[in-house]
Amino acid sequence: MRVNIAVFASGSGSNAEEIFSYFQDHPSIRVSLVVTNRKEAGVVLRAARYGIPVVHLSRSAMENEQHVTGLLEMHQIFLIALAGYLLKIPDYLIQKFPGRILNIHPSLLPAYGGKGMYGMHVHDAVIRAGEKTSGVTIHVVNEVYDDGEILIQDTVTVEPEDTAESLQKKVLRLEHKHYASVIEWYLKKRLNFS
Ligand code: GRF
Repeated sequence: MRVNIAVFASGSGSNAEEIFSYFQDHPSIRVSLVVTNRKEAGVVLRAARYGIPVVHLSRSAMENEQHVTGLLEMHQIFLIALAGYLLKIPDYLIQKFPGRILNIHPSLLPAYGGKGMYGMHVHDAVIRAGEKTSGVTIHVVNEVYDDGEILIQDTVTVEPEDTAESLQKKVLRLEHKHYASVIEWYLKKRLNFS
């Protein structure tokens, strides 16, 4: 049994790197492709260090169904993990990968999700609202932003002295802790192997 996954990322790629490292010597799951919409994204270098091929797909290239599905078929991708990928996933891709696209979001969805809620905007909003807790959500992607089935949530306490920056660090630590193992658990559950 060999399952190939693709990681889509737009930024630094610290979550992506946790995933690369977790599956590096895995007996049945392999990260075989990274897709980015930003050539200069940190994730490009990180993937190179792990010898994982990176493909740059601009916003318009991502709309080209034949091109994108051809690429994913060529790499025999079963599951896509979004790790800080900022473009909306086109509907054709969601239909092609039903229940096989996962996302990580740095808040306790449905709170602080939806369009425009990404990166520091999320943590800023949580701090401004005076929330006492925040956290991470890993969910299945459907056609609505941040709306699919939730697989796991974990919380952090927001201390009175926390800033958006310190909260981001705390939440990111939780993201790193959970994402790869949730991907593994989900694949094993769906494909029925151990
Ligand atoms: C993370 O906070 C993730 O939850 C969000 O984008 C950020 C990506 O950070 N979707 P990194 O590029 O993995 O460091």
